[in-house]
Amino acid sequence: MCGIIGFTGHKEAQDILLDGLAKLEYRGYDSAGIAFFKDNGGHISIRKTAGKVNDLRAICDDDNTSTCGIGHTRWATHGGVTNANAHPHKVGKVTLIHNGIIENYHELIEKYNLSDSLVSETDTEVAAALFNKMFDGDPIATIKKTVPLFKGSFAFCIMFKENPGKVFAVRNVSPMVATNTDAGSFVASDLTAFINFSKRYFIVPEYTILTMEEDKISLQDLEGNNVEPEYLEVNWDISAAEKEGYPHYMIKEIHEQPRAITRTISPRIKDSLPNFEDDNIPDSFFENCSDITVIACGTAMYAGNVGKTFIQNALGVPVNVAIASEFRYERPVLNENSMVIVVSQSGETIDTLEALRLAKKYTNKTLAVVNVKGSTIARESNYVLYTHAGPEIAVASTKAYTVQVASMYLLGCKLGLVTNKLSVEKAKEFMNNLKKVPDMIKAVLTQEDKVAELTKRMTNSTNAFFIGRGLDYTLSMEGALKLKEISYIHAEAYAAGELKHGTIALISEGVPVIAIATQDHVYSKVISNIREVKARGAYVILLSKDEKITDKTVCDVHINIPPVADEFTIFESVIILQMIAYYTSTGRGVNPDQPRNLAKSVTVE
Ligand code: G6P
Repeated sequence: MCGIIGFTGHKEAQDILLDGLAKLEYRGYDSAGIAFFKDNGGHISIRKTAGKVNDLRAICDDDNTSTCGIGHTRWATHGGVTNANAHPHKVGKVTLIHNGIIENYHELIEKYNLSDSLVSETDTEVAAALFNKMFDGDPIATIKKTVPLFKGSFAFCIMFKENPGKVFAVRNVSPMVATNTDAGSFVASDLTAFINFSKRYFIVPEYTILTMEEDKISLQDLEGNNVEPEYLEVNWDISAAEKEGYPHYMIKEIHEQPRAITRTISPRIKDSLPNFEDDNIPDSFFENCSDITVIACGTAMYAGNVGKTFIQNALGVPVNVAIASEFRYERPVLNENSMVIVVSQSGETIDTLEALRLAKKYTNKTLAVVNVKGSTIARESNYVLYTHAGPEIAVASTKAYTVQVASMYLLGCKLGLVTNKLSVEKAKEFMNNLKKVPDMIKAVLTQEDKVAELTKRMTNSTNAFFIGRGLDYTLSMEGALKLKEISYIHAEAYAAGELKHGTIALISEGVPVIAIATQDHVYSKVISNIREVKARGAYVILLSKDEKITDKTVCDVHINIPPVADEFTIFESVIILQMIAYYTSTGRGVNPDQPRNLAKSVTVE
């Protein structure tokens, strides 16, 4: 979604803004722009265009010496992808950029008679017009009286013509972080935009006005009280957010999974048992749990599905997995003993956040499995289990998924132990298997060339199907999502036994079917289902624990998944599915890191 950066300091702003925007590209966008105080005086210049940051770079001046400006990447919500709709928007004395949605912009146009000032179709320009209308010479007083008039979510970065060298910012829900460094002051949608300058940052509190000057940064709430920034520090550095020789972030992140899982599970397995002491999650959290609801979106939700299958089968505790955007508007069936687990890589997905807020009205047993330290979801849930995947830049989630699944296994085991539904012996066996996962993944990564080769057969396909039973079915959903997201091939996941109730009608000569058959208790059933599609001409790629399958009535290509306990094959199979999606995408000439229309962090409903 939209990316924001603001800078004022001792260095030329243009390159800092453009480089920052390039770092925010991963969030997903369709146009870009910057505004700056020309020659550091009271005139604000804007450069903006539909297209990529490189297109913006091409229309910027070489001799821009301004040391103060703001920059934006836009993911269209209100109004098409045009130069006029790109940010920044300037109305009178106000120039601003915005991430979020102003829901009452129509009412504001009417009530404050703003239509004459508008040249774009965006809600953002309405906000600029309103700030301008309310402007009384004092930026802070103007922001204080204007911000309460907006309904919706926003992160604004604002420059007032009469205040050269200063950038103001304010937010509600939409994320925004800031810092002050020797080079100057920064604000941005996320830390990656200025990680070159600082690993220290603070989250701009909601409804608090940030004033940035070259040497200082200050916060004031809407009542005029000063607020002290609470600085955090990340434990990764710039290299974690760079490609390090890989052609794309996605393939780099696929390869990072052994390390990401080790970092996530090692501190939480003591004496071969799950241990959350360092996370401050007491055993009492797991007591008296009547049921579990996992709430998430996209890949995080599919990780929740794996957790559901694992926990229900191992413990017999009912688990419901809810799509956050649906959960928000349904009647929640929760009681004070219901455990709610929200799963989110970014910790900022607005549907997941709002679903958490709703769930908290029913239960205090909420726990977030989150990757980004200090994110809103992490701060608002009763407990948090941080995954330690490091920054995930590619839009298609890979390492975040496997660390989320590993976290669900840790949580499931702990729940089983505390409630006596799992013996210590069995829990130790699970944890010892979990510890082996990084090595299992390394072994599967050696099959990369074979996977790359087999995807040549898929690049011209228009449809593909993923089938499996049990855990393999939950994984099929993630495999299909990955392929759709980055290759634009229509892909469907089906429970293998359900195919014959409709979908099998879509199987025709050459249609790729990726079949996963790693679960011992249903292996022969899946093989029968595969024969059914094979008999109708499907091109079958089979993942199974068999060393070799040469029977062409079963599959066209066989991929061996090194044999491990059934609950753990998912960590191996997913690597193959991620690589299938990646190489099909690159084979079709798509940039897998920035698929069309998608955003990494979805901060609008
Ligand atoms: C977007 C991303 C997905 C991600 C989902 C949930 O749709 O493109 O990759 O799985 O949001 O994001 P979260 O940050 O909450 O895990």
